[in-house]
Amino acid sequence: MGVEVRKAVREDMSAVLDIYNHAVLNTMATADIEPQSLETRIAWFDERTAAGFPVLVAVQSGNIVGWSSFGKFHSRPGYRFTVENSVYVAPNSRRIGVGTALLQPLIPLAEEMQMHSIVALVDASNAASISLHSRCGFHEAGRLQQAVFKFNRWNDVLLLQRML
Ligand SMILES: CC(C)(COP(=O)(O)OP(=O)(O)OC[C@H]1O[C@@H](n2cnc3c(N)ncnc32)[C@H](O)[C@@H]1OP(=O)(O)O)[C@@H](O)C(=O)NCCC(=O)NCCS
Repeated sequence: MGVEVRKAVREDMSAVLDIYNHAVLNTMATADIEPQSLETRIAWFDERTAAGFPVLVAVQSGNIVGWSSFGKFHSRPGYRFTVENSVYVAPNSRRIGVGTALLQPLIPLAEEMQMHSIVALVDASNAASISLHSRCGFHEAGRLQQAVFKFNRWNDVLLLQRML
C-alpha cells in the first residue's frame, strides 16, 4: 500500500480540509452541511492538540490521503473518559486499507490517555464506515432514528462503541 501514518502538523490542515469538505458536500459521513474554512480547521487542530488529543494523517507518495482523530465525546465532565473518533480518506485512496491504518492506531493512543471507550456516530447507510469500525472492534450500541436531516432527507445514525 505504501502509506505512512504520522502525527499531523498545522501545515497539513489544508489537505485535511479538502478531504473533509469533499465528504461534507458529497456524503452523509458528516452532519456538517456547509464546507469549513481553513481558519476553522486550523483552530480545531490547535484545540485538539492543546488538549492532548491525536490528529493523524496518512501519506502516500508525498500526498495526504486521509486523516483521523479523536476528541471529547461530550463536554460534561462525567463523560471525560469517553472519546469520539473521526476518520476520512480521500475518494481515490479508499478500499486499500488507509482507513484501517488510520483508525487502528487511535485505539492504543486512547488507552495511553486512560480513556475507557471510543465511540463513533455513523450514518446508518455508511457501509464503508460500519465495516471499518467493525473491523477495528467497534460494536453497535444504539440507533438514533432520523437524527440527521441533510440532502433533503432524514437519516438514522448508529452509535458505535469500542471498550478499551
Ligand atoms: C469510511 C472510510 C474511512 C473507509 O476507509 P477505507 O480506506 O476505504 O477503509 P479500508 O480500505 O481500510 O477498509 C476497511 C473495511 O471497510 C470495507 N469497506 C471499505 N469501503 C467499503 C464500501 N464502500 N462498502 C462496504 N465495505 C467497505 C473494507 O472492505 C474493509 O473491510 P474488510 O476488512 O472486512 O474487507 C472511507 O470510505 C471514507 O473516508 N468515507 C467517507 C468519510 C466517512 O464516511 N468517514 C467515516 C465517518 S463516521
